[in-house]
Amino acid sequence: MALARRLMGDPHGPADDHSGGLITAPKRYELFAALAFLGRRRAVFDRLVARAGITAGDRVLDIGCGTGYLTRRAAAVAGSVVGVDPSINVIEYARRKSPPTCVFHVAEGRRVPEEDASFDVAVSSLALHHIEPGQRADTFAEIFRLLCPGGRLLIADFRPPSGALGNRFVGAVAGHAMQHTQVEDHAPAITAAGFTVVGEGDLRPFLHYVRALVQ
Ligand SMILES: C[S@@+](CC[C@H](N)C(=O)[O-])C[C@H]1O[C@@H](n2cnc3c(N)ncnc32)[C@H](O)[C@@H]1O
Repeated sequence: MALARRLMGDPHGPADDHSGGLITAPKRYELFAALAFLGRRRAVFDRLVARAGITAGDRVLDIGCGTGYLTRRAAAVAGSVVGVDPSINVIEYARRKSPPTCVFHVAEGRRVPEEDASFDVAVSSLALHHIEPGQRADTFAEIFRLLCPGGRLLIADFRPPSGALGNRFVGAVAGHAMQHTQVEDHAPAITAAGFTVVGEGDLRPFLHYVRALVQ
């Protein structure tokens, strides 16, 4: 089992199902994220909020919200945001750390307890590779159900290094899913869910994102 999954993941989960699984140690995750972003986490996530086109008054959904960092950055612009994550540990942490404008559900991305067309924007950061491969199509379909006509989706995830050494290092530290999941490879599944993919790009130092619309 990769180091990160041992330190931050579900001790009762499968050793490797080609997903990152649940994060169950929120304080360790926050420490890991702070170190990984080298003090630039807030700037990177604020750029992510801007690339998602979030503006004041938007109803925003954050899939795989974890400790709620992006949820809070999005709420600072939109006003209110709903975050979902199947890990009770991270949701309890997110609830303690967030203002009342952030509402959280313990739920998988493929089963969100909200009405059809109740959001203008859906975002997700560093979560796609945590979702089991067999659940990803259902997750995109669920997000499509939840967005209103004209709704916007931005999915950002880790861009694995292309060099063999760096790639193997990521595999050893973070596991198979982070080593091999390329967010742009999911464009066909996002399209199959009903979206129109409208762009992709890098968010330095190591994120890549795909943007899509409900047309
Ligand atoms: C690396 S964390 C990212 C958290 C946060 N979005 C961020 O950028 O800091 C990935 C999260 O995905 C969650 N996750 C795992 N399976 C999921 C699923 N089926 N649906 C939604 N989230 C899931 C994990 O519990 C974890 O909190």
